[in-house]
Amino acid sequence: MKKSLELFNIAKSLFPGGVNSPIRAAVKPYPFYVKDANGAVLVTVDDVELIDYVLGYGPLILGHKHPKVLEAVEEQLHRDWLYGTPHEVEIELAKKIVSHYPSIDMIRFVNSGTEATMTAIRLARGYTGKNKIIKFDGCYHGAHDSVLVKAGSAVSHYGLPGSAGVPEAVSRLTLVVPFNDVDTLEKVAKENEEDLAAIIVEPVMGNAGVIPPKEGFLKELRRIADETGALLIFDEVITGYRLGIGGAQAKYGVVPDITTLGKIIGGGFPVGAVGGKREIMEYLTPSGPVFNAGTFNAHPVTMAAGLATIEELERGYVYEVANTAAERIAKALEQEAVAKYGGIVNRVASMFQWFPRVEEVSNYSDAQKADKELALRLHEELLKREVFIAPSLFEAWFTSAAHGEDVVDKTLEALSEALKVIS
Ligand SMILES: Cc1ncc(COP(=O)(O)O)c(C=O)c1O
Repeated sequence: MKKSLELFNIAKSLFPGGVNSPIRAAVKPYPFYVKDANGAVLVTVDDVELIDYVLGYGPLILGHKHPKVLEAVEEQLHRDWLYGTPHEVEIELAKKIVSHYPSIDMIRFVNSGTEATMTAIRLARGYTGKNKIIKFDGCYHGAHDSVLVKAGSAVSHYGLPGSAGVPEAVSRLTLVVPFNDVDTLEKVAKENEEDLAAIIVEPVMGNAGVIPPKEGFLKELRRIADETGALLIFDEVITGYRLGIGGAQAKYGVVPDITTLGKIIGGGFPVGAVGGKREIMEYLTPSGPVFNAGTFNAHPVTMAAGLATIEELERGYVYEVANTAAERIAKALEQEAVAKYGGIVNRVASMFQWFPRVEEVSNYSDAQKADKELALRLHEELLKREVFIAPSLFEAWFTSAAHGEDVVDKTLEALSEALKVIS
């Protein structure tokens, strides 16, 4: 890893912590640098080939450098890459999403999941004329002020309660309740009904490991939102197109008022989207008073990559391969990791996590009780055996269309070996 070390030493003088997003620095003793990638494999600058279960933290459901995405991007690059005007591909991608998500009549494309949830919350506030939001402990909705309160992902990994620099006046408007706890949610929602604009949730928590909703939980959210006049926002930045074409809302049969998407819909390029009922979406500028704008919104290259990705997803095989891979690895974790060290494996479709040494994980405080160090040791030992999983318990393993049988076989061998030496 000589070249990676050299690069990281330079990076440390250029970027805070040496990186441009905190979780990247959690790979110890220093992050590896990648020069190429293909299918399920990352190639480092030191010519190590790693089987990748991070997949850019979720977007690459087709694997790296899928030929259909590459072709669409190349074609778009030849037409040009920025117009500052509307263009046809944004319409094509929006039509697909609208056809797959019955809760979405209209869309606004932005550049990240962060922008998507920021815009969704502003929209909910503008539409309802109210200010407070409820979020769930350990859910991560990006890096903006309103949602950096008890957030998951890197916020949890680094043990932060939130973020410095967020004014208390802003965090006071964000009420936090435990996931899968209807009674507390109902109590807090009713107490704050007068000023409650929205309930925002990751329908399957994917930033505190993987935590599925309990039977009926999301339906109760719908009921409580209706009874209190709050809008229900499903943050499907991870789950959208990952749990299936129609995301978590199709899987669990619950219709949110606003959906945020990201990751997969950009095919690996920067993206976010806010979608919802026409009546709500028309509140966005220029048709309404809630401001949103962006130089790069609906970037042509992103739209082309997203469209090619979704067209491939419509063929069905992707979910079959990715889910089978996830199922096999999750089963191996149950048979080997849980058998040896205890714990539980939570899996939904092609995302999963092993929580060592706990019996059940149905909310963030359960996840906190798991053995984080042991999870990290597994990351370290797998990396030595050329398998890359996220360097944190508060992330997920993701699989893709490129994680076929051979790739999984190799992974299972590495996993068995790694599990022998962690403790
Ligand atoms: C559920 C969820 N919402 C929002 C975000 C923020 O997206 P981005 O990193 O594209 O800003 C993430 C990122 O991981 C996420 O997992």
